[in-house]
Amino acid sequence: MKDGQPASIAVLEGDGIGKEVVPAAITCIDAVLARYGEAVSWRPFEWGSDLYRRTGRMMPPDGIETLSTHDAIFFGAVGAPDIPDTETLWGLLIPIRREFEQYVNLRPVRALPGIASPVLGGSDIDLVIVRENTEGEYSEIGGRMFRGKPEEAAMQETVFTRKGVTRVARYAASLAATRRSRLTSATKSNGILHTMPFWDEVVEEVVAEYEGVRLEKVLIDALAAKLVLNPASFDVIVASNLLGDILSDLAGAIAGSIGVAPSASLNPERHYPSLFEPVHGSAPDIAGQGIANPIGQIWSGAMMLDHLGFSDAASDLVAAFEAVLLSGVRTPDLGGDASTSRVASEIVARLT
Ligand code: NAI
Ligand code: MG
Repeated sequence: MKDGQPASIAVLEGDGIGKEVVPAAITCIDAVLARYGEAVSWRPFEWGSDLYRRTGRMMPPDGIETLSTHDAIFFGAVGAPDIPDTETLWGLLIPIRREFEQYVNLRPVRALPGIASPVLGGSDIDLVIVRENTEGEYSEIGGRMFRGKPEEAAMQETVFTRKGVTRVARYAASLAATRRSRLTSATKSNGILHTMPFWDEVVEEVVAEYEGVRLEKVLIDALAAKLVLNPASFDVIVASNLLGDILSDLAGAIAGSIGVAPSASLNPERHYPSLFEPVHGSAPDIAGQGIANPIGQIWSGAMMLDHLGFSDAASDLVAAFEAVLLSGVRTPDLGGDASTSRVASEIVARLT
């Protein structure tokens, strides 16, 4: 987007169904942009588990530097059954989120037309989870000792910083102010003695600056139950890295399928590229069969278009996949028999 050049998008299909849903989503994004006489420039990088098997690295040593010159990152999924998740996730996705200060992981959850929710009240769900994305429980601080011995021990420290909690709470409160002004903070300050009361205090201080935004602190266990029993009562939920991760799979399942859930890992200040990826993983159980649901990836693409300033194209893309879902063309996870490419070509047909 610099100097009239098309936006440059780094494409990381990654592993498993990432290799199927990313190309499907790209055809839909190209089609919707063409409607407006626009285009983006896709730059593929074949990083992931295949590269790891050959070189022992998920991305080249200068990977972060290479990505930094792009306007956004379009990401599929990583994870392979024969490689520990600690290597795949920590070798690619987590360094990107941290190095590019993508401290907001935004996960909208909405009932889609024609998709039945497995729980009562799920068809009225319309919420956004704002997950802290760079610190918290996902920390490198800790260690293991006495491996293999009876006295073996493992320790893992949670890290919350005032800066980290403040900025994610601020993002969530600002977002709530543009919606129904209800902010739920996920906590566990009854059981976690130091970090969670600190999270509560900082969130409360920040939200007090937002007149009209109502803050409710809910313990994570009760919150999980309430999400199942009354999902429509939520608007914006702000949560730490781990709690937000768990809640978003739960909320995605309540909305109908994890295969439709999108996410954006944002650097709101735009000092670095943001990353757009579905909530789901590489789904090795169905990879290679051509039946993965591409909607989560396509919806993430719509979030990317919005971020890049193509908000009309983003709305058109969402409307197009909603229409296709409503027409009954669906992948098996939603009870249909359509392939990944069939769903994508139906969406493209509606856009051209
Ligand atoms: P998963 O999300 O890959 O799969 C969970 C279940 O949902 C599977 O039965 C799968 O077939 C189904 N599913 C997921 N996406 C689907 C789609 N688009 N269409 C239809 N069905 C879909 O989670 P799982 O099995 O726990 O993890 C598999 C691998 O993915 C692991 O290595 C894990 O670490 C990794 N992972 C990576 C993520 C990422 O790259 N951001 C996120 C979550 C997991
Ligand atoms: Mg997850």
